[in-house]
Amino acid sequence: MAAILIVDDDHHLRRSFDKLLTQDGHTVKTASSGEAALPLARSGEFDLIIMDVRLPGMDGLRTFKAIREIEPLLPVIIMTAFGTTETAIEATKMGAFDYMLKPFNIPEMLSLIEKAVEAGRFMRSRVELDPVPETDSGEAIIGRSRVMQEVYKAIGRSASTDATVLIRGESGTGKELVARALYQHSARSRKPFLVINCVAIPETLLESELFGYEKGAFTGAVNRRVGRIEQADGGTVFLDEIGDMPFGIQAKILRLLQERSIQRLGAREPSPVDVRIIAATNRNLEAALSEGKFREDLYYRLKVVTISLPPLLEREGDIPLLCEYFIRRYSKKMGVPDPGITAEAVEMLCAYSWPGNVRELANALQKALIFNRGGPVSIEDIARVSGIAPDRTAEKADLPEETIRAWIRGYLSSHEGGLSMFDSAMEQFSAMLITEALNLNGGNRSRAAKMLGLSRPTLMAKIEKHRIRFETSAISEE
Ligand SMILES: Nc1ncnc2c1ncn2[C@@H]1O[C@H](COP(=O)(O)OP(=O)(O)OP(=O)(O)O)[C@@H](O)[C@H]1O
Ligand SMILES: [Mg+2]
Repeated sequence: MAAILIVDDDHHLRRSFDKLLTQDGHTVKTASSGEAALPLARSGEFDLIIMDVRLPGMDGLRTFKAIREIEPLLPVIIMTAFGTTETAIEATKMGAFDYMLKPFNIPEMLSLIEKAVEAGRFMRSRVELDPVPETDSGEAIIGRSRVMQEVYKAIGRSASTDATVLIRGESGTGKELVARALYQHSARSRKPFLVINCVAIPETLLESELFGYEKGAFTGAVNRRVGRIEQADGGTVFLDEIGDMPFGIQAKILRLLQERSIQRLGAREPSPVDVRIIAATNRNLEAALSEGKFREDLYYRLKVVTISLPPLLEREGDIPLLCEYFIRRYSKKMGVPDPGITAEAVEMLCAYSWPGNVRELANALQKALIFNRGGPVSIEDIARVSGIAPDRTAEKADLPEETIRAWIRGYLSSHEGGLSMFDSAMEQFSAMLITEALNLNGGNRSRAAKMLGLSRPTLMAKIEKHRIRFETSAISEE
């Protein structure tokens, strides 16, 4: 729950807000003027400020600007009556989270408050890269596998630039976490970070949410609306699930990237904006291209800097570290001592295939912790709540095709793509094929050649070329 500061000169309103929000589980403090609000804002104890646009003395806009100077990442919601909407809109243009028009619709207001608090936490809670410092209170990207080291390097290389970054990876691999890490390690970390989830917002609203509109742009546009991109001016916009972005809007994003400007719906002129774009998707964009669902020009523009998150299955050695991390984190959150986890449970988790990746692991451990009745988290605790059981892991191991696919995915994501990718992967694969044929035939090259349908000289040439080493049994050589 959040700590909220209400700034309004009307004491009735302060009182009713206090009551309503306290009931909703928040901690509330109030101030009756801008002057009184500033020292409170400076204290750093709040997650959100809700302020009236009309204040005695220092007016709303000046108060807002002063708060912005003190705490640039603290979300502010502006309250306004019909007559003062222009000022409220001005404030959103300067980065206020949103405004609410009196009289308030309570459920809408509560949901807006929740969104604002979450957005603020997103900006301020730091994401560290592994290894976690001892005093870890924030979040971290855990993992020391070779593939994750590559991810950290890529974050390090691109964070401080203003380059557009495309983050790719299956669901639950940590794309959002990486987006936040990029933002926090960037030169724009004191400026806003706005998240737009392109699937969560209905297509009809997405365009106005992103770009805003002029008064009268369409029926129902009674006021000008500042779009999220303009609101984040100077900062970073995270376009999550960009692979699902409607085709028509993609053109506008392309234009933003090329011309650094946006055009509100119904506006005559484009307005310049300075935002850095970070995008993420779990979609196969190449397939979307060939189906005509994703614009090729936008695709090329986005993919210049790509960070690919490997599936959890390929992060060798990371599962034990993640287990430790999540159990520590969740037990702390639940206010119970860290129980640890048994070696057998870790072993079972290491053998599982994790189609839902890190999110699935985190959820399984969180649930197991709830069921844990003292002692380290055990196989039984996990099996009871998640359907991950030792027998299921055995079943997985019997799926050779999945193992091959996993190898291919690992190969593709850990090698530079490009012209020779296909050939070098095939070379590597044929080397493995030959090695295994040799092993199955006790090192007998004639028999291996026959098995593979190759002539013996061809096989010999390949063995030479790939410098294949194999075991020969004493009696097998011809
Ligand atoms: N390497 C990691 N270390 C610690 N926590 C992680 C790691 N990767 C992911 N997580 C956690 O797992 C959960 C899922 O991660 P996140 O939301 O970033 O995934 P995503 O790739 O955006 O997934 P989706 O495509 O489903 O949106 C989050 O709670 C996140 O904090
Ligand atoms: Mg995500």
